Amino acid sequence: MKIEFYRHSLEQSDIDNVCNTLKSIFLTTGPVTLEFEKRFCEHTGIKHTVALNSCTAALHLALLALNIGPGDEVITTPMTFIATATAIMHTGATPVFVDVEPTTGLMNTNLVEQAITPRTKAILPVHLYGTMVDMKELRTIADRHSLKIVEDCAHCIEGERDGIRPGQLGDAACYSFYATKNLTCGEGGALCTNDGCMAEKVNILKLHGMSKDAASRYSGKYKHWDMVLEGWKYNMSDILAALMVNQIARLEGNLERREAISTRYDRGFNDQVGIELPKIIGKSARHLYTIWVNADRRDSILHAFQDKGVGVAVNYRAVHILTFFRDKFGFHPDDFPVAHDIGRRTITLPLYPGLLDEEVENVIDVACKVCG
Ligand SMILES: Cc1ncc(COP(=O)(O)O)c(C=O)c1O
Repeated sequence: MKIEFYRHSLEQSDIDNVCNTLKSIFLTTGPVTLEFEKRFCEHTGIKHTVALNSCTAALHLALLALNIGPGDEVITTPMTFIATATAIMHTGATPVFVDVEPTTGLMNTNLVEQAITPRTKAILPVHLYGTMVDMKELRTIADRHSLKIVEDCAHCIEGERDGIRPGQLGDAACYSFYATKNLTCGEGGALCTNDGCMAEKVNILKLHGMSKDAASRYSGKYKHWDMVLEGWKYNMSDILAALMVNQIARLEGNLERREAISTRYDRGFNDQVGIELPKIIGKSARHLYTIWVNADRRDSILHAFQDKGVGVAVNYRAVHILTFFRDKFGFHPDDFPVAHDIGRRTITLPLYPGLLDEEVENVIDVACKVCG
């Protein structure tokens, strides 16, 4: 038996769309990217989408567009992928971690206010595994202290909590279209915002700080471009956008399948000794299905899954215990004990629309044997 950790669900229509783009004149950012941005706006309900080459780029540019830089602090969570924290550092600002909730692994909003200093400029929550942070609470805190919010939505296109969707209360929402994400082009990302000025600035920052992109230089008589800001090379190509335009319409159907798989897992692990499940609040995007096991046995359990042909991953070990962060900031594991503990207990199981019911049952059987 071999059950991959992830299999994508691209369809022939996605591949045809890429082929059509390859036969067109435009390979870089052009009409297909604009079409993707339009459809993503319709799906998210957010006014502006800027397609980029990663979520890391989106986080970086969101912070830059908010004028965050050296000397500033941004509050975030250590229970995330490293890019959340390194994007803050790319601007020259300092990531300030607050610990997470023991039941969800999400940023503990009760700890945010005590981390605010005169240098704090923004809060960067992560909608971990697809469950949203309490955005109403976080917006109240941010407003009380005149702070901005940049949401890391790498796991959460489809989520909703208290009637709020990603990007609705934040100043910017940053998405990932990395190879294993719910919407994917292998490598890609997007920044969504309701703020037209921010979208305009990010459109310039994403392409060297140039005043005109290739598509607008191509149409009509030659017009000179200017460089108006120091920018980066973060734009998305039409080839990659073509892979995604049709996927957007399948997001909700794919979520339903992941929900059904998650419910099957939940039932299989109900009352199972040695397996704890993170609490889901509201509508989760069901991006990752993680279980929390005995910390001392986690690595041997991981290997036991692999020996039995089940693909697994760890999302994540807490960021503050990684060598670079320990060396740079002098962190100790106990600085954020809840994140550290979760990071020592986490195992992510396969979860994707193409996973068959019998494969899910196999994963449950293996999990109950190796964790019990
Ligand atoms: C929570 C989180 N934030 C940010 C990122 C970075 O995304 P990208 O690889 O698109 O830059 C990831 C990617 O896995 C992620 O999981």
